[in-house]
Amino acid sequence: MEKIKKIVLAYSGGLDTSVILHWLKEKYSAQVITFTANLGQGELLEKIKEKAEKTGANKAYINDLREEFAYNYILPALKAGALYEDKYPLATALARPLIAKELVKIAQKEGADAIAHGCTGKGNDQVRFEVTAKAIDPDIEVIAPVRQWEFKSREEEIEYARDKGIPVEIKKSSPYSIDRNIWGISIECGPLEDPWQEPPEDSYQITKDPQKAPSKPTYIEIEFKEGCPVAIDGKDYNLVRLIEILNEVGGENGVGRIDMVENRLVGIKSREVYEAPAAIILHRSHQYLEDLTLDRETLHFKPLIAQKYAELIYNGLWYSPLREAMDSFISTTQKWVTGKVKVKLFKGSCQVVGRKSVYSLYDMKLATYSKEDIFDQKSSSGFIHIWGLPIVSLTRIRKSK
Ligand code: ARG
Repeated sequence: MEKIKKIVLAYSGGLDTSVILHWLKEKYSAQVITFTANLGQGELLEKIKEKAEKTGANKAYINDLREEFAYNYILPALKAGALYEDKYPLATALARPLIAKELVKIAQKEGADAIAHGCTGKGNDQVRFEVTAKAIDPDIEVIAPVRQWEFKSREEEIEYARDKGIPVEIKKSSPYSIDRNIWGISIECGPLEDPWQEPPEDSYQITKDPQKAPSKPTYIEIEFKEGCPVAIDGKDYNLVRLIEILNEVGGENGVGRIDMVENRLVGIKSREVYEAPAAIILHRSHQYLEDLTLDRETLHFKPLIAQKYAELIYNGLWYSPLREAMDSFISTTQKWVTGKVKVKLFKGSCQVVGRKSVYSLYDMKLATYSKEDIFDQKSSSGFIHIWGLPIVSLTRIRKSK
C-alpha cells in the first residue's frame, strides 16, 4: 500500500472526531484536512473551525450545504414519500451521501489519498459514507478509526484528549448520541436503549412536551408546486427557510416526536428516537395533496416505490441506478401535486383539515348526495354484476359439488 500523506476527515467538532483528527496525524504522520458541512445542526461553525485548527488540522473547510441538502436530497425524498419502516423521515440517512460526496470532492481538489469518518462499526452511517464515496471514486481509500483503534470507552478517549492537549469541552456529559440537521434529529443511547422505557423528557431537543404545548390549535396553510412546498400562509419561502419555520411551529406544538425500534442494515434492531416536526408536517401534507390530485392507480402504486426509495436511502444506496429510475417515475407523478393544504397542529398532533388544487380530481357533482348529483346510479347494477361474476360463478360451481 502506498503511504498515505493527506487525509480529509469528516469533522463534527465533537469528542470522537477531535480525537480522530489527532490520532490520524500520529498514526499516519499525514496532513489532515477537516471538512464540516453546515446542514443546520445548530452549532457555531466558526468555533468548529477554530477547534479543528487548534487540534492540528492543516486546513479546515466549513461549507454551507443547506440549500443543496434541501433541494437535492430532502425534496426528492419528500416527493417520494420516503419514510423508513413507515416512520423515520431519514434525516441522518439523507445527509450522509451529501457529506461523503463533498469529502471526495475536497480530497480530489486537495490531492488527498484518503478520506476518514468517525462512524462506529455497528451503525448504518459507515455504510452510507463508504458506499457513496466509492460510488463516486472507486479508488478512494477510506479510513474508519473507530472500527480499528484501541479506545474502548468514552472515558479512554477523554483521557487521550487530555494527554494530547486536544481541546474538548467536557460538558455535563449527556447520555445521548445526537445527530442533527434541518430535516430532523436522531437521538440514541443511554436510557433509550431500553425499548420499554418511555424516552425521558430531556432526550428531546427541539419539541415541546405535548402536554405543555399551547391549549389552542395552530392552523397553517402550506402551498405546494409540483410536489415542492413553496409557501406558508401565503408567503413564499425557499425550502431551507420553510423547513426551519415548520420545525419551530411544529416543535412549539409538540409535533414531530417519533419513538421506534428499527432494523439497521448491519442486522441489529435498535431503539431510536427522532424529532422531525417539519418532516412530519410536510410528509403528511404532501400525501394528503396527492390523495386529492393523483388518480387511484398511481396513488395506490406509489407507496411501493416509496418503501423501496426509503430502503435505498437507509441502506446507503442513494447513488444508485434504481434511485435515479425511481426519480423519473416520481417526477412524472408530481406534475399534478400543486395546491394548498390546511394543517391543524395541536398538542403533538398534526392533522390535515383541508385541501384544494387546480388539479383536484374531486368532482363535487359525482360525490354529492344533494340534488346536484349527476352520478348514474342505475349503471352501478351492471357494473356490480360483472365485477362480482367470478365470485358468483365460483360459489355456484363449488356448491354444486
Ligand atoms: N438510526 C438512524 C439512522 O441510521 C440514526 C443514526 C444516528 N446517528 C447518530 N450519530 N446518532 O439513520
